[in-house]
Amino acid sequence: MRVAMIGTGYVGLVSGACFADFGHHVTCVDKDAQKIERLERGEIPIFEPGLDDIVARNRAAGRLDFAVDLTQAVREADAVFIAVGTPSRRGDGHADLSYVYAAAREIAEAAEGYTVVVTKSTVPVGTGDEVERVIRETRPDADISVVSNPEFLREGAAIEDFKRPDRIVVGTDEPRAREVMTQLYRPLALNSLPLLFTGRRTSELIKYAGNAFLAVKITFINEIADLCEQVGANVQEVARGIGLDNRIGAKFLHAGPGYGGSCFPKDTLALTRTAQEAGTPLRIVETVVGVNDVRKLAMAKKVMNVLGGDVRGKTAAVLGLTFKPNTDDMRESPALSIIHALMDKGMKIRAYDPEGMEEAKKLLPAGVTYTSGAYEAAEGADCLVIVTEWDAFRALDFERLRKIMAQTVLVDLRNIYRPDEMQALGFTYESVGRGSDAAEGLAAPAVH
Ligand code: UDX
Repeated sequence: MRVAMIGTGYVGLVSGACFADFGHHVTCVDKDAQKIERLERGEIPIFEPGLDDIVARNRAAGRLDFAVDLTQAVREADAVFIAVGTPSRRGDGHADLSYVYAAAREIAEAAEGYTVVVTKSTVPVGTGDEVERVIRETRPDADISVVSNPEFLREGAAIEDFKRPDRIVVGTDEPRAREVMTQLYRPLALNSLPLLFTGRRTSELIKYAGNAFLAVKITFINEIADLCEQVGANVQEVARGIGLDNRIGAKFLHAGPGYGGSCFPKDTLALTRTAQEAGTPLRIVETVVGVNDVRKLAMAKKVMNVLGGDVRGKTAAVLGLTFKPNTDDMRESPALSIIHALMDKGMKIRAYDPEGMEEAKKLLPAGVTYTSGAYEAAEGADCLVIVTEWDAFRALDFERLRKIMAQTVLVDLRNIYRPDEMQALGFTYESVGRGSDAAEGLAAPAVH
């Protein structure tokens, strides 16, 4: 099959490269000529484990091309994917769909023969109808089906997720379009193809409902973590205890500094806006959005408290800046809010991240000092703050840290170390939701 992928952002590039790896012929299109030039030279603009190999392999096999103009690719394509950005619109939090509609118009002009137009970008319910209207308006004679096929790729594990998906959701009522989509994903059949066909609006909503549910799960355990700290319980054991119940499930119950990234913050907000306009506000999701925002600032307070409150002139060494490990993505990363809040209180920041520093420099205040490694960051610091759980931070040399830090204080916002070990090493240690079960001075619960 021939595929045109419009947009070479995260989703477009990963999906395009993986479809090529399935044996289809794929042209990835982007208006950004510089980006296309770089891709043609084999430079991958994002950090995603394994992506460079797949791109190189399929380029060499002649199955993956890049282009600035979509005309030829769309003309030849059986399926055209819209994978352009849908950022939050300033002011109202709705998804900005102008890139999606612009792409739809151009696709309509170029299409020849039966063409399936697939929205891969995360778009609010009803966008498929509007894409179809735009296409019919531009080219009343075009033989086109508009299908929703949301992506469920986790950054850092995107290729694995594409090739071994839990499910593939395809929203369309048209048999011809179903057939094309089945052919596209057929190479997965060996692993028993988990294709779920639904109506288009249902498919669009599945994406948002899925992300919102996961955001609820994280935020729920984060609040339980706060409670654990107050009552002397351990959130990791609570998570294990509830997660072993199959109805709950063990995943997405890691307490931490709040979720970030390009999907959860944007999609939860967009979903609440859609629901408000539909007259059925999603109060749970609205609350999750608010709780998660406040949480990031609460993490900065945690750092200040462990240093005794007044942090003016003190130095924090921040390890991990990206919203999670194995990506260079800084979007909505908790590190942004935490560092801003600490600098507001007069703290100096020394920061290190294995992949995210280029992006971080664009988003953080100029005063931040970037270092070449974790120990360089810790040099002279009053406190070490782990914001992102990169593997490289999981086995730090605490003897070495003791010698170079001004104070031996560790704030571990991802719970990667054990409180008893840190105590034995003589570090003042703060983590998330791990009030000791043996906490002294806690009143026993009142007996009613
Ligand atoms: C997410 C969804 O998982 C994916 O299906 C969707 O299509 C896009 O959004 P991604 O944003 O790449 O993927 O990252 P994910 O691994 O889901 O993590 C999101 C955020 O939640 C991160 O900030 C992470 O640190 C946080 N998180 C995740 C927790 O704090 N605790 C958890 O238990 C899990």
